[in-house]
Amino acid sequence: MTRKCTLTEYDPLPVDDDDHPSNSSSEPTIGDVIFARYSRREALKGFSAVAALSMMGAMGGAVAARPARAESAASLTFPEVPHGMTETHAVADGYEVQTLIRWGDPVIADAPSLDPLNQTAEAQGSQWGYNNDYVGFMPLPAGSQNADHGLLCVNFEYTNHHLMFTGVARGKLEELSDKQVDVEMAAHGHGVIEVIRDNATNTWSVVNPSKYARRITALETECVLSGPAAGHDRLKTKSDPTGDKVIGTINNCAGGKTPWGTILFAEENFHYYFGGDPEQTSEAQNYKRYGLKPKSRYAWSRYHDRFDVAKDPNEPNKFGWMVEFDPYDPASTPVKRTALGRFKHEGATTVVNKDGRVVAYTGDDQRFDYVYKFVTKGRFDPSDREANRDLLDDGTLYVAKFHEDGKLSWLPLVYGTGPLIKENGFASQADVLIETRRAADLLGATPMDRPEDVEPNPVTGVVYMNLTNNTRRQEEQVDAANPRASNKHGHVMEMIPPGGKGPDKDHAASEFTWNIFVLGGDPAKPEDGAKYHADVTENGWLSAPDNMAFDRTGRIWIATDGAPKAGLADGLWAAETEGPARALTRHFYRTPLGAELCGPEFNTDDTALFVAVQHPGDTKGSTFDAPSTRWPDFDESMPPRPSVQVIVKKGGGVVGT
Ligand code: FEO
Ligand code: CA
Ligand code: CA
Ligand code: CA
Repeated sequence: MTRKCTLTEYDPLPVDDDDHPSNSSSEPTIGDVIFARYSRREALKGFSAVAALSMMGAMGGAVAARPARAESAASLTFPEVPHGMTETHAVADGYEVQTLIRWGDPVIADAPSLDPLNQTAEAQGSQWGYNNDYVGFMPLPAGSQNADHGLLCVNFEYTNHHLMFTGVARGKLEELSDKQVDVEMAAHGHGVIEVIRDNATNTWSVVNPSKYARRITALETECVLSGPAAGHDRLKTKSDPTGDKVIGTINNCAGGKTPWGTILFAEENFHYYFGGDPEQTSEAQNYKRYGLKPKSRYAWSRYHDRFDVAKDPNEPNKFGWMVEFDPYDPASTPVKRTALGRFKHEGATTVVNKDGRVVAYTGDDQRFDYVYKFVTKGRFDPSDREANRDLLDDGTLYVAKFHEDGKLSWLPLVYGTGPLIKENGFASQADVLIETRRAADLLGATPMDRPEDVEPNPVTGVVYMNLTNNTRRQEEQVDAANPRASNKHGHVMEMIPPGGKGPDKDHAASEFTWNIFVLGGDPAKPEDGAKYHADVTENGWLSAPDNMAFDRTGRIWIATDGAPKAGLADGLWAAETEGPARALTRHFYRTPLGAELCGPEFNTDDTALFVAVQHPGDTKGSTFDAPSTRWPDFDESMPPRPSVQVIVKKGGGVVGT
């Protein structure tokens, strides 16, 4: 059922919900650094992949093999999905897509099905939330590597009121009732479902009832704060005078897993949710750096005083953290781990370092903001799960500075060192963490082109980072033939810890090297300055990389958010990271109109690939009453519904072979 949608019917461009820079730092941006490394002449002519790889190998000390024709050596042989925009999704021939769960489907036993004209907060709090994002597959039983049965742990990032409720126009917050606001709050957060495969048919389904089924929401779930900022005066509010508790979690974007089998999920654009004038609070400097404005993107402050900074000025300090919870214990309390810093976390992924310390990589998704890593003080104990519980409360947070010679320095954010002292407004480590961005500014971190997912390759140990885009235009890079800003399409970077391959790499080291893996855009357009393997096809190029996953053989799977601005739907592309087919991205899956792709996540033997389709139908002018697509139901009584799907190979087998 592939229905072509003509672009005159719908403006396919989504409204840009991100990218409102609030960093006035004068440090060179990563665009400046890359530009300086690869010279103006090379940047302008859109240098070839061969030249670029060779040059970067020489300069960055990384893989630099000259790519040969790749067909014979490539392991990714699926037929590519054509670029395009259609009302429904598309996947490579030979694969099958199953829709597992949709917005409003029951999660908790006996929850009602979605009744879109009569939705209530009570129903929503027991159903699948809106705008599913991060997906984590956690095998059952706990601690096993079972590929056929597990938990799916999924974030619900934000709500689109114009697609959720009848008669509500985009941005018309005054049209939202208290009941609708409570539905929105209950549609945020996280969900846990039990999923199982029928091996006879290679079909996945949701197990309901399940003792693991759970919803975490912004409306009702009590969370605790732990680590150095917990209980600090700046976190004390009317509803919580102790400063170590908070109701709910918001804008839960991407995430990751810990080695001890818990989930880490991010709080990203928390600034959108608060009303009141932040400049009239004692936190004015802090809130300005995080982009809080008197005009909110949500109506929550009209009905809930804690979202009005005029009434409860410290509440925003309780958001912007990484949250950890144990999905195997449905009664567990989510914990905001303040030691990992407060900013617009895209997600966080972890690796056990060769010395047993755990390293978490985490990006701050805003134009001109930074990439961080956290190194635990304690060591992971694989034989004692409980002993690892609070490892993320004690350690050192670092921010990255990228040098022109291909080196990368990790700068520690430690109170009392360098500029992180009283004279600059930091009286404790809690202050450094509450205002992580301002602390990182003072250290001279490198402003990046919106760091989204950051994740170590499990085979090579190289850490990959998706930088989604930066439309800032540098004068010397623009001429009549190149009228666009330098990085409209984003890029994929490699951060390379010292040491041998894989487990021999030292993720705790203070000096890495760095490299460019892919520069997004159309390689047929010299003005894009794109860089891939020389054999990338007309469907193999991508724009606006966001989320990522690795399969067990170390191949990267890149999901995009914003490709419609380049004329193609968002989706999923796969590439090898080493060998002759390095950086030969291939197009595997395409989202329906208006959607971005989140997840992606493999089961434990790579025979199932879970993807989260976020904000389907969110195109300009599209509403609940007249949506640009009714994916995935195509039922006139149903609006478009964000959904998690699972992709399997027809007849079974590893995805991507
Ligand atoms: Fe929520 Fe940065 O994507
Ligand atoms: Ca998103
Ligand atoms: Ca994202
Ligand atoms: Ca994004």
